[in-house]
Formats: sequence, structure tokens, C-alpha cells
Amino acid sequence: MKIKVLGSSAGGGFPQWNCNCRNCDGVRRGTLKATRRTQSSIAVSANGEDWLLVNASPDLLAQIAANPELQPARRARDSGIAAVLVIDAQIDHVTGLLMLRERDTPLPLYATDAVWQDLRSGFPVAPILSHYCGVEHRRIALDDAPLTLDALPGIRIDALPLSSKAPPYSPHRHAPERGDNIGLMLTNLRTGKRVFYAPGLGAIEEHVLAAMREADLLLVDGTLWTGDEMIRLGLSKKTAADMGHLPQSGADGMIATLDALDTADKQRRKVLIHINNTNPILVEDGPERRVLGEHGIEVAYDGMSFEL
Ligand code: MLT
Ligand code: MN
Ligand code: ZN
Repeated sequence: MKIKVLGSSAGGGFPQWNCNCRNCDGVRRGTLKATRRTQSSIAVSANGEDWLLVNASPDLLAQIAANPELQPARRARDSGIAAVLVIDAQIDHVTGLLMLRERDTPLPLYATDAVWQDLRSGFPVAPILSHYCGVEHRRIALDDAPLTLDALPGIRIDALPLSSKAPPYSPHRHAPERGDNIGLMLTNLRTGKRVFYAPGLGAIEEHVLAAMREADLLLVDGTLWTGDEMIRLGLSKKTAADMGHLPQSGADGMIATLDALDTADKQRRKVLIHINNTNPILVEDGPERRVLGEHGIEVAYDGMSFEL
């Protein structure tokens, strides 16, 4: 099983177009040791040719261009992207669907009922695409039945409902529904190796913790270092919790959660993904990045790849 990080940033990207926070300004000017990142997406493949796109980022076209393995060039019109799965209906995960409109067959799209409803109402990408390639909805049922895709032979996908947030334009923003946000457990049935992917984790619920313990690779919420980071910088009125994210620092933060996972018989790779441009962990020679290193935690970057 191959996993490619196409975009490791949270919504807005790094640098964000209108942001002059220390990180965005520093990376733009080249005065900070930090690396540009595009918005949140990964791709998964069994054979290195047919890929499941997990989240369709606003930066999708640039990501396809930066990752030639997504264009196998078998025919005049072609793509390695066999299907798309979206874990929620947030702008940073669904806007790229519009960029796939030139397909000559309907786009196979895996989504929960809650997300599929958002994509026909609050963010009506499905009705829009019906005028182009069309969308073929494939339901993620959340009934413990794993998904298997023809394009991903030997890979099993289990979807876990998460406590996070539906987007502001969702009809259920203030009345959360099961399936507004999901995490994924990807299992290579041949090697038994497992990846847990959850770029938005509002809370570490018991079933999430169980999945994290089973995984050999964690790609988890790296959005913010502190809960009030955006407020203190004067950039937003929202806390991490308001946005459905768990900060890294603090007694109940992601670092403490990840620290508590390891046991003598099982260790795992721990990688933060979906990193907001304000997060000090983006500074590669900064104190927060050093703390992560001391805890054995890595920071995802665009182009990072894994083979399990
Ligand atoms: C999130 O992950 O909380 C959202 O994508 C934030 C946003 O609107 O960019
Ligand atoms: Mn996001
Ligand atoms: Zn910024």
C-alpha cells in the first residue's frame, strides 16, 4: 500500500494568500526555515498506478502536476485518480472536485450520507458537476462494513465517525450528524499494516484511541499548537475546539495523546498533518519542532510518501 501526501496544510495553505503572520511572511520572504505547503489531501494506491484521492483540495491541479505518478498517460484523456473519497464537506477537502469536471465518465465519489447531503445543498458541487461529468455517489455507511474498491485490490478501508465540525454552510453545522466527519483506517490485507488518517480530530474518543493503538502509521490532526493560537495572533475569533480540532500542546493535547499510545510490543510512526499556517511547528529550527522531535513525532510535508 502506497500513501502519498499531496497537501499537508490546513485550509488556506502555507503561506496563505492574505496572511502576514510570522510564518507566512517569513516563508514568503525566505527569512524563516520553513517549507511551503498546499491544502489537505492524500492519495492511496495498491499498484502505484490507480489511486484513491482522499480529499479534493483547492490545490488539486497543482498537486497533480507535482506528483507525476497520478498521470499514467495510458490514453488520450487519462488520470490515475480512479475515485475520490471525502472525509467531510469542508472547503479544503471538496473544492477540488470541481477541477475534475473534464472527466468523460461520472466521478465515483465516496462520502457519508451527511457529507453527500452537504454536497447537494450548502456546497452544491454535485448539482454543478451534473452539468459536466456527473457524480456517482458511493455511500460510506458507517455500519462497520469495510469498503473495498476495485481500484485498490488488497486494501480495506474502515470509516470511523468523528466528533469534529460540519462546515459553516452545512445544514447540520449546529445539529451535528453522525458522519459529518470521519477518520479512515486503511489496512493492507497482505501485510496486515494499518494507517489511521484523521486530519480533523475534535476529541479523542474511545473508538478513536482504539484505532490509533492498532495503527502502524498515524496521520493525525496537526492544525494548531495551542487552542487559542489564532485568537492570540489576532487572526480569528475561533478556538481549535470551535473548529473541531485538538491542539498539540497542553495536558490533553495531541502530544500527550500520542505519548500514551506506545507499549513495549507495539510502536508506530506518528505524523502530524493538516497544519495551519500559524502553527509554530512549521518553523523547522524552532523550539516547538524540537519538542515534537523529542516525542518522536514527525510533521508531514507535501510529497511525503509511505509504503506499508
Ligand atoms: C478546518 O479544518 O477546520 C477547516 O478546513 C477550516 C477552514 O475553513 O479552512
Ligand atoms: Mn480543514
Ligand atoms: Zn499565516
